[in-house]
Amino acid sequence: MPSAAPRILTGDRPTGPLHLGHYFGTLHNRVRLQNEGVELLLVIPDYQVITDRDVAEDLVTHTENLVVDYLAAGFDPTRSTVFTHSAVPALNQLLLPFLSLVSIAELGRNPTVKDEIAHSRQSAVSGLMYTYPVHQAADILFCKADLVPVGQDQVPHLELTRTIARRFNDRYGHVFPEPEALLSATPLLLGTDGTKMSKSRGNSIPLGATPDETAALIRRATTDADRRITYDPDSRPGVSGLVQLAALCQDRDPHAVAAEIGDGGAAALKRTVTEAVNTYLAPLRARRAEYVRDLSYVREVLREGNKRANAIAEVTLDEVRDAMGGFR
Ligand code: TRP
Repeated sequence: MPSAAPRILTGDRPTGPLHLGHYFGTLHNRVRLQNEGVELLLVIPDYQVITDRDVAEDLVTHTENLVVDYLAAGFDPTRSTVFTHSAVPALNQLLLPFLSLVSIAELGRNPTVKDEIAHSRQSAVSGLMYTYPVHQAADILFCKADLVPVGQDQVPHLELTRTIARRFNDRYGHVFPEPEALLSATPLLLGTDGTKMSKSRGNSIPLGATPDETAALIRRATTDADRRITYDPDSRPGVSGLVQLAALCQDRDPHAVAAEIGDGGAAALKRTVTEAVNTYLAPLRARRAEYVRDLSYVREVLREGNKRANAIAEVTLDEVRDAMGGFR
């Protein structure tokens, strides 16, 4: 008998627009897997927004924009599911038993949480900062996901999820499979300042930027005085980040892209990158504009996704309560 299609779950915090780093790092791959027949679920983890800030600003706009970006990138709502944390109460119901399976010391040792605390703009660290990885385990386990495509920073959360699944099964009988992280093969994408492209660093090129905005962002990018363009990420991060972007958009080797520009200097490099990005993103941006014109459709996609996620979560919650013996 053929085994069921693997189920994949991943998500993006609704804190700002998705950018080229997301696209080449994960969006591209998610859509490829979906088109190969994998069942794809995307969580928009709105409750995670209030881990490192007090208020989730522009939450509705950011959430709808994520759905627009997913659709424009090829997410197919007839096959795949998108939902928000706050629309699925069963996730919170799973949080409590899961919390009983981990120690305070384990929560405090999580390196990603430690890093987020170090960079937090808040004066006090909340209980949610320490416990959101347990809630994230509920995101992953409620649908019994097999694979979780994530970046390196999420690996501790995946380990915790596996620990929770294992301990639950040991204590109450087998309910959960242990999901695996699926690490992206694409190298880290550098932003316009030569450091990791990131929503919060102001160095990213949003998928939804106009061609002119894209040109302006690339014009301001950090380069250096050497007119000869080379690809050497360690010693020339600014120039190499730009070369890498053009190479990804043109599906070429970065050394070949650099060699072609030769002694043209930063101005020629920036012209090449702007042209490459705008050409590559043109079809996605055209689809994006259509979805933005019809937000009622976008909202409907999310409503349907929330309904589907709730149905799956209710079944799992019942299994959990039964396994635990009479909780209702
Ligand atoms: N913690 C992830 C991030 O900060 C977002 C996230 C929430 C997630 N739930 C998830 C990722 C489940 C993968 C699977 O980007």
